[in-house]
Amino acid sequence: MAETKDCHGNTIPVYAKGTVGANTIVKGAVPEGSVFSIKVNVTAKQKSLPVAGQFYMLRATKGKCLLGRPISVYHTEILGESKTEKGRLDASIEFLILKKGKGTTELCELEKNDSVDILGPLGNIFPDPKNVKLEKKITSNKNISSKSGAKNSTKKICIIGGGIGVAPVSGFAETLEPKTYDFYACFKSGKYGVKNVKAKKLIVTTDDGSVGIKGMLSAALDEKKISEYDIVYACGPLPMLSYVQSICKAANVKSYLSMESRMACGMGVCLGCTIETVDGYKRCCKDGPVFEGDKLIFLKPSACAEQVVAARKNKNVKPDLSVKIRDVVLKNPVIGSSGTFGFGTEYKDVFDVNKLGGISSKGLTLEPRQGNSGIRLWETPSGLMNSIGLQNPGIPHFIEHELPEMLKLKAVTIANLSGSSLETYIEGAKLLDKTDVPIIELNISCPNVSAGGAALGMSCEMAGSATKAIRKVTEKPLIVKLTPQASDVAGVALSCIEAGADGIVLCNSFQGVAIDIEKGRPVFDKVKAGFGGPAVRPIALRLVYEVCTAIRKLPKDKQVPVIAIGGIATWQDAVEFIMAGATAVQVGTNTFANPNSMIEIIDGLKEFMKRKGFNTIEDFRGCAL
Ligand code: SIN
Repeated sequence: MAETKDCHGNTIPVYAKGTVGANTIVKGAVPEGSVFSIKVNVTAKQKSLPVAGQFYMLRATKGKCLLGRPISVYHTEILGESKTEKGRLDASIEFLILKKGKGTTELCELEKNDSVDILGPLGNIFPDPKNVKLEKKITSNKNISSKSGAKNSTKKICIIGGGIGVAPVSGFAETLEPKTYDFYACFKSGKYGVKNVKAKKLIVTTDDGSVGIKGMLSAALDEKKISEYDIVYACGPLPMLSYVQSICKAANVKSYLSMESRMACGMGVCLGCTIETVDGYKRCCKDGPVFEGDKLIFLKPSACAEQVVAARKNKNVKPDLSVKIRDVVLKNPVIGSSGTFGFGTEYKDVFDVNKLGGISSKGLTLEPRQGNSGIRLWETPSGLMNSIGLQNPGIPHFIEHELPEMLKLKAVTIANLSGSSLETYIEGAKLLDKTDVPIIELNISCPNVSAGGAALGMSCEMAGSATKAIRKVTEKPLIVKLTPQASDVAGVALSCIEAGADGIVLCNSFQGVAIDIEKGRPVFDKVKAGFGGPAVRPIALRLVYEVCTAIRKLPKDKQVPVIAIGGIATWQDAVEFIMAGATAVQVGTNTFANPNSMIEIIDGLKEFMKRKGFNTIEDFRGCAL
């Protein structure tokens, strides 16, 4: 296998800033605007210019993604000697980019002269057919015998590109003598990326028949046809590569397949891009991306993927998003979280808050509180720290002034009950019990108070007895909001359920510390503060997953809903939590960043359910457990 080398004059990767020379929509790609051609101008030494088959880690400098994305080189043009940097060349490296996820979208939205972080060229290359040794005759198959000992010039070459995988093989085709190879290009619809291909035969297939032969690669190339070739080079989606491998194996044809994998570094150190081969796991970035076809092991899609695909067959769905917390029906599972949505009315001029499933009030204590001194908010990467200290007007004031306004809304009102001691919690609960508030959310998780709050939720015993005490004084649906700081969150949840909780809210903010480096002291007067936002989402999801798993083991009549909270910003986040077992979701910090996010989540959920054929939230709730 050809490797790029460093001290022998071959490519040496560099980390540098490139400049977008041009960014154009690739004509012929369907849907239009799904594939972009980005030409990046770089100045580099000759030995740092790419060889066909290699890739770069590309990141839009102005983008929000942390990591670059591996993108194969499509075409390189040397523009001449650099006028500004002696001994270097100005070059334009062209990439074809499929707009798919966040990273590629940021790249596709770059404009001329924008800066791009580039690391590369990386990876090995397609071996030159002249250097490929063909095996001696190993069967009586007549095609094989004709191959053994074939001269370089007579080697019959087949190149296959599927979808965006056409880019690297097209770049490779450019390095071969024109008309010395056949080129198969396969797409779902349309055709692109073959303008530099000078093949003897160019065969195009499309799933929809819009160009060339209707069907997938198998409609144009089978075991019999592939046996006419000596070497096959391919890049494309896994099912296609798996098919290429199988027909090449069956016909004893040598194949080189260029693989893709998620990677963080591209340099062989993150070990995140491993690919299964007969010689064990191999790094896609460093040992590949080009592998000998018969060395690769292709895995079947997981059972979970099959289950969701199966649900799609259910057509013409009118999704019902309603969920129940005990006997209270929420028209959808999206709830404005306590402390981030005031008393429900503040945002009513910005969007229609009546569309929400529920709204949880600011944390309420028996007595009015003015909250903590000093800095109360501190932004961190993808997160927000807060130390409000339960500032609120007190439960009697809430009952007289804020609650009546909240109850006028069509979203279900939830009163978040906090306190500084168990006694004040109980007194507060007694007052709320006499009102029309449909649900009480027992907050034993506030991280910013010296007494009460999270202190009551740290152990199974304390959380259980707090829940029991409140259960005694109110018949209302009671949900308990837990702290992620407890060492056994699932145990705490089960104790609360045992003590009479009708639902578990998981989780309140995490505890963090921030230091002001100019002053050399903690940012917050209370040193520790609550930490929420997208940064905590995977940890919150893990806790929800664990608690829902524990609840599933209870007898059916003891199972209660889990209302998830923790960095939920999009409908996709909501779906993840629901698939982990949550019945509803609360949106907190993200409302500050995007007040419309809850509406977008509701709309996105509806569309997702239609697309997947889910009639109700229950159809996919907990499917990932
Ligand atoms: C606060 O008011 O400090 C936050 C409330 C909470 O996390 O429960």
